[in-house]
Amino acid sequence: MAASGRCRSHRLLLLLLAALTAAAGEEAARQAAAPAAGCGCGSSRGGDGGREAAARRYSAEAAAGERAAGRRRMVAIPGGVFTMGTDEPEIQQDGEWPARRVHVNSFYMDQYEVSNEDFEIFVNSTGYVTEAEKFGDSFVFEGMLSEEVKAEIHQAVAAAPWWLPVKGANWKHPEGPDSNILKRMDHPVLHVSWNDALAFCTWAGKRLPTEAEWEYSCRGGLENRLFPWGNKLQPKGQHYVNIWQGVFPTSNTAEDGYKGTAPVTAFPPNGYGLYNIVGNAWEWTSDWWVVHHSADEAHNPKGPSSGTDKVKKGGSYMCHKSYCYRYRCAARSQNTPDSSASNLGFRCAADSLPDLQ
Ligand SMILES: *[C@@H]1O[C@H](CO)[C@@H](O)[C@H](O)[C@H]1NC(C)=O
Repeated sequence: MAASGRCRSHRLLLLLLAALTAAAGEEAARQAAAPAAGCGCGSSRGGDGGREAAARRYSAEAAAGERAAGRRRMVAIPGGVFTMGTDEPEIQQDGEWPARRVHVNSFYMDQYEVSNEDFEIFVNSTGYVTEAEKFGDSFVFEGMLSEEVKAEIHQAVAAAPWWLPVKGANWKHPEGPDSNILKRMDHPVLHVSWNDALAFCTWAGKRLPTEAEWEYSCRGGLENRLFPWGNKLQPKGQHYVNIWQGVFPTSNTAEDGYKGTAPVTAFPPNGYGLYNIVGNAWEWTSDWWVVHHSADEAHNPKGPSSGTDKVKKGGSYMCHKSYCYRYRCAARSQNTPDSSASNLGFRCAADSLPDLQ
């Protein structure tokens, strides 16, 4: 893909558009684009003692791997019927409406967003290479970059002032080659495309949630509420979600404790025991994107059979009510399946618990 300049710039344009419409500066972008809408055990040093030590280390790693890969971290979501979407859409053009009755079968949902540690275990055991690594770059919110890095690439981004295509940015290097995830192993993995997310979930014996499953999970058993915990953003003045405080994109006061992502275990869980189902990082779902929905009652809807973009839900640490009021359960946005960015991750679902649960 990177070999073809034409294909490459086409993808960059798509990424720019997708990042624009999807993550930040969404209103301006919308006006402009007007959418109708290895084994991981290291090298053996030789000698039986070394091999034994390596085997011990490996089995400890494998046990940790199973845990961290989320096999013990799913919650049962009881089947039922809920109101999906809303008749009081905050962002009309996103197709948050109409409110419709949707039946969902029982399933399992990851309690946490997939973390850098989880993803590293997957990469260690499979050698998987993400799309951002293959393409050689990914989109990074400029607020996370140094002045030097920004100055180098700024001319390329007149159309997307706070989304910069950063060479060498990928899940291991979220803000480019000089950054790394070492102090953020428990934060959500970022710069993973929809295809990457699907590969991870498949490896873990899981799948991506449908949008309906995701939204049902988000609502945590509550009906018609804005947020997973109710209608008030900060009950008793407490922060329940990692979003933006201050003036976007210039001033991030991080009153919730985080300028960028937070650990996947941060903040109180919702009624189903799910953490950070809104805010922190956007989460991929399995559905193709469409903005017009039937108001008819539906059973286990899976979205259209084809499309160009995939639905993502939940908003991110970059969202503020003033320009990205998308940390609501009904809110939604989209990206092409090969897109990646510094605010987009995922969690997996499953029909039954994977083997090692
Ligand atoms: C992945 O493999 C590397 C190299 O062997 C190791 O240092 C690292 O701890 C492994 N990561 C996890 C999360 O197990």
